[in-house]
Amino acid sequence: MTTFWSWYITILSLGTIFALTWLIFGTRKGQRQETTEETVGHSFDGIEEYDNPLPKWWFMLFVGTIIFSLGYLALYPGLGNFKGFLPGYSHLDSKTETAFATGESGWTGVHQWEKEMAKADALYGPIFAKYAAMPIEQVAQDEQALKMGGRLFASNCSVCHGSDAKGAYGFPNLTDSDWLYGGDPETIKTTLLKGRQGMMPAQLAVIGEDGIRNVAGYIRSLSGLKNPEGIEVDLAAGQDIFAANCAVCHGADAKGQQALGAPNLTDKVWLYGSSFAQVQQTLRYGRSGKMPAQEDFLGNDKVHLLAAYVYSLSQDKAEK
Ligand code: HEC
Ligand code: HEC
Repeated sequence: MTTFWSWYITILSLGTIFALTWLIFGTRKGQRQETTEETVGHSFDGIEEYDNPLPKWWFMLFVGTIIFSLGYLALYPGLGNFKGFLPGYSHLDSKTETAFATGESGWTGVHQWEKEMAKADALYGPIFAKYAAMPIEQVAQDEQALKMGGRLFASNCSVCHGSDAKGAYGFPNLTDSDWLYGGDPETIKTTLLKGRQGMMPAQLAVIGEDGIRNVAGYIRSLSGLKNPEGIEVDLAAGQDIFAANCAVCHGADAKGQQALGAPNLTDKVWLYGSSFAQVQQTLRYGRSGKMPAQEDFLGNDKVHLLAAYVYSLSQDKAEK
């Protein structure tokens, strides 16, 4: 911040506080001390005002807020370039000094956050590391691990996959045995570390509206869905289009291909809806779901625990 703005903020803030202090003490001067029945003499719609001083507790409350604001401005950064008298964390915590010995003094929210993160890492890091050294299947049998994984899931994954992990439109259900990319422990972990992006290309320009209608009808028939009455669907033509345009990714049997994240089109699980209109929409404009990579964000150890948690969701609980 330039010196000008620094002084601008400082003078404005302190000036306001001093002006208010003057106002509250100034108006108190010359006021009567004791309460009275006298009114100040004006009347609004029959409502009159007693000529009494501000109640003492109220006055003290004002004084209290003024003292608080001065104390706050002295301790914390806020007045222009002034950093406040609170020490930076590099001075406070010698144990974790390396984590934030940035040479900056003065309290900052970032330092506070870094300090708390370092504390949490020191506390939980060894527990995460312990689980990270175990095979995922084994972690998935450990009750404490699953509890921790459940909490990680709630704060990092449930926004998209739902708090019960059952997914939503466009976000896959993680509790069933139907997988876009595969449900074995290592594949789940790779999904989480690296993220995924499905690429279903738009087909309208390739096969036209008639083609869309026919192939939509065809793949719906594969999972036993009846196509709506009154819409003409040529299933044989749809089958030909499928073989020519779709089988590369979805497989000749339409059972999907996990290497590409191409879903099985013969089951009852639909990421983007199973209605005739929804399937046509998927085909016309394509779809591209994105699972964000967690490697740089949560790190290997937490992802390991999460992979175990996700893996456990689709396992038969009775087996344990
Ligand atoms: C921003 C939304 C979002 C967040 C946050 C998110 N996911 Fe996903 N996830 C997706 C989407 C979308 C897909 C499907 C990707 C696709 O369509 O190719 C997906 C796919 C997956 C898959 C693959 C499922 C399969 O069938 O192969 C797993 C496993 C998964 N997510 C687990 C997680 C976990 C664990 C977390 C928390 C660390 C998480 N996700 C956070 C959106 C999200
Ligand atoms: C380049 C590979 C590729 C081709 C070609 C392709 N798909 Fe897909 N398809 C995908 C992928 C990957 C997804 C998953 C998209 C996602 O996860 O967001 C998908 C999703 C879908 C879905 C949505 C399934 C659901 O559960 O909602 C349907 C339906 C579908 N494809 C049908 C077709 C048809 C029919 C064709 C041919 C006309 C076709 N696809 C061609 C890769 C492909």
